[in-house]
Amino acid sequence: MTQSLRDMAVAVLNTADGREKTALSRRYAATWFAARKAGAPLPIGRGTPPDRPARPARPELLDPRDVPRRRPGSSQGRIAILHAIAHIELNAVDLHWDLIARFHDVDMPLGFFDDWVKAADEESKHFNLICDCLEAMGSHYGDMPAHAGMWRAAEDTAGDILGRLAVVPMVLEARGLDVTPGMIKIFQQAREEATVAALEVIYAEEVGHVAYGSKWFNFLCGRQGLDPQPVFLDLVRRYFHSPLKPPFNEEKRAQAGLPPDFYWPLTEPA
Ligand SMILES: [Fe+2]
Ligand SMILES: [Fe+2]
Repeated sequence: MTQSLRDMAVAVLNTADGREKTALSRRYAATWFAARKAGAPLPIGRGTPPDRPARPARPELLDPRDVPRRRPGSSQGRIAILHAIAHIELNAVDLHWDLIARFHDVDMPLGFFDDWVKAADEESKHFNLICDCLEAMGSHYGDMPAHAGMWRAAEDTAGDILGRLAVVPMVLEARGLDVTPGMIKIFQQAREEATVAALEVIYAEEVGHVAYGSKWFNFLCGRQGLDPQPVFLDLVRRYFHSPLKPPFNEEKRAQAGLPPDFYWPLTEPA
């Protein structure tokens, strides 16, 4: 029997090792798109995603307050920044497959699955690119502690697809657009060209992920006759527990379909 897309998503979520997880993720994405191209899409199916994805024994996961501060001026500091990015990318792989697997009750067009399979494939590439940079600097993913609690947004929105789209792509990934240019500058100043190139790939592709979030958030609101902007503000206040931090990358946010009235009102506690 053909493996369904949701079976594939669950298999990725249940794979612990980072490189194995991303290899499986990329292979499944290729399978999905080959079937789409052949005009014979895979069944979506009904997988049951785990509450928490499998993760490697290392890195050790610490409360964000206990993760040591990173000083970009030293090569150790830059390794720590890359380690934190690798951790975010691995989490993003799981977040996108979880979005594909979890919301059975909401009927979505095939284009929804195309977008999130593509996003999951890109996150897998990002994780691998950053791991390559770390290894070239004599380190590797797992070498230092990482933030616990990255899965919190997924748990909080496990029963609410609109909340998930609001918080994950449209808040967390949009935040990536705000901070990535500063990271690129740090590695440019250190003349670490391979890392600059990897971060530029990530920066370009993340615009697409925010855009997918905005597209499908608007789609679902439209289907229910809801006004997207007040619904969005309400969901972010419910599920995301702190105010958003300016400065914002208004240009890239606009490119991703995120207008200013979707973030400026959230810079202050409600
Ligand atoms: Fe990414
Ligand atoms: Fe992303």
